[in-house]
Amino acid sequence: LLSVDVSTPAHAVSPILPGLMFEDINHSGEGGIYAELVQNRSMMASDTAPVHWSAVGGSTLSLDTSTPLNEALNRSLKVALPSGTGAGSRAGVSNDGFWGIPVRPRTTYTARLFAKASRRLGPLTVSIESADGGTVYASARVSFVGTTFPDRPYELTLRTGAGAPVTGNAVLTVTTSDPKAAGETLWLQHVSLFPPTHKNRPNGLRVDLMDKLIALKPKFLRFPGGNFLEGNTIATRFNWKNTIGPVWERPGHMDDAWGYWSTDGLGLLEYLEWVEDMKAQPVLAVFAGYTLRGDHVTGDALQPFVQDALDEIEYVTGPVTSTWGAKRAADGHPKPFPLEFVEIGNEDWFDGSGSYDARFTAFYDAIKAKYPHLKLIATTTVTSRTPDLIDEHYYLAPSAAQAATHKYDNRDRSSTKVFVGEWAAQEGRPTPDLNAALGDASWLAGLIRNSDQVLMECYAPLFSNVNNNVWATNLIAYDNLTSYVSPSYWAQQMLTSKLGELVLPATARALPSLATVVTRTGKHVYLAAVNYGTAKLAVPIELRGLARGVKKSATATVLTGPSGTATNTLTEPMTLVPRTTGVTGAGGTFTTTLPPLSVTVLELTLT
Ligand code: AHR
Repeated sequence: LLSVDVSTPAHAVSPILPGLMFEDINHSGEGGIYAELVQNRSMMASDTAPVHWSAVGGSTLSLDTSTPLNEALNRSLKVALPSGTGAGSRAGVSNDGFWGIPVRPRTTYTARLFAKASRRLGPLTVSIESADGGTVYASARVSFVGTTFPDRPYELTLRTGAGAPVTGNAVLTVTTSDPKAAGETLWLQHVSLFPPTHKNRPNGLRVDLMDKLIALKPKFLRFPGGNFLEGNTIATRFNWKNTIGPVWERPGHMDDAWGYWSTDGLGLLEYLEWVEDMKAQPVLAVFAGYTLRGDHVTGDALQPFVQDALDEIEYVTGPVTSTWGAKRAADGHPKPFPLEFVEIGNEDWFDGSGSYDARFTAFYDAIKAKYPHLKLIATTTVTSRTPDLIDEHYYLAPSAAQAATHKYDNRDRSSTKVFVGEWAAQEGRPTPDLNAALGDASWLAGLIRNSDQVLMECYAPLFSNVNNNVWATNLIAYDNLTSYVSPSYWAQQMLTSKLGELVLPATARALPSLATVVTRTGKHVYLAAVNYGTAKLAVPIELRGLARGVKKSATATVLTGPSGTATNTLTEPMTLVPRTTGVTGAGGTFTTTLPPLSVTVLELTLT
């Protein structure tokens, strides 16, 4: 029997409970939501070779450190053009993108590039074409390039025709057929190509992935990590000051936590605009002097990092009259961003030296002194200061996640409130299967029931490119053309969109393999139930404390599948999706039958 007291709510559902966590893992940013299509556009990804660039028409490629674009992009791609370059014989370079350049018909792309040559020559043709060079899908020209790099990149519009295919296997080429180019040298830097982006931001995000995130109605975005925040070493941390300003003045850095180059084109401002576009709020994680390899900075040596965090907060929130607020304005966003939560570090429980308490204190004191209203999140227990929230992470087997639905039920209600900043039931690759989704739904039901304690939660990791799945289980996956969502995405979407404002006390007796949460807003009652057993479950329901009655007709939204290992994939994205049907027979007492391996949300209306 599931007995629910509709008249005396236990507490309010935390209004900021569901959010998202993002870091550049599995090509989540580069080759993921950051819409740039050229891989290694800055030629900085390798010191030894121009990776992802190939010769076209017999040219010879090398990295030229004596021809920098600027201090940040301190080299360029040197293209020695063959003596046969001329009419009918083009030469130059091609880029293979992130496992190909995606093409769609009737689509407008924007190319930006810096180019110069050993003598004035032209035109330079920029094309999106088939990998064998046989078919050009779109192309545009720079009429002439001179012997010095211009101050700003050349900007070109390329448009595919109605007959262009849908393919992920194209390349971008930059070539010339000018006879004057024969035997000459071309230098290229910051060669960039963007498809249409969400809200048409010039340095923007992938439309399909943003749509999927916005559909979850997240209240916040925790960024930029995770391990990506820390880096393996201090030099490879997320150094936010290197991620602002014109993208061609950002040096980028090795994402050595996850094994690839980050141009940092997705930088601090882009994260903030992403949050703004989702109508969410940032949870800004600041580097706190500890790296994945175990370096930790203490005492006076920590002060520059504390100052970096203060400057970062000023960049986010400061007026245009402040030093860093002025830089934000110069970068195109005069309006300060709202900021309530700052997280100090990431997973500092790994720091065996025990330095976190003192590091947290240094950040806490400096930030609270200047910004007393900010809520500061600790990543592990500290004793010398009281954090506003503590970030706990849980990666669990599906069965453990199911059992953990009760984790917070008996918590000391007066202890520090919790932010579950990373969690997932892990089974399936690159996205969770139904077993994992049932674990996730059971766990999330427990978080909602206890959202007087757990004020915020976000699943992790969010994304995986199917071509670079270094972390097994992720919420959403994609290649360069299409994307799909996992059953866990749907389970979360169901539980967080069909959710009332108040948690109702509910007791379940003699109902094995069941996790529940019941919430209410006014006359609407949302009864979420997870049946993680392999048999259907008849659940007698009793609604106590009714002022009047319950409408007979209700709706049931159900996510289920043929087996626990059933899942969605790039080619079969719709195997597991929730379905909503009308049901009759609801009342003060009634029985509902939950399918095996299912998540159900019943929406009942009180009369
Ligand atoms: O989510 C993947 C990783 O798991 C995060 O980078 C880290 O914080 C955790 O260990």
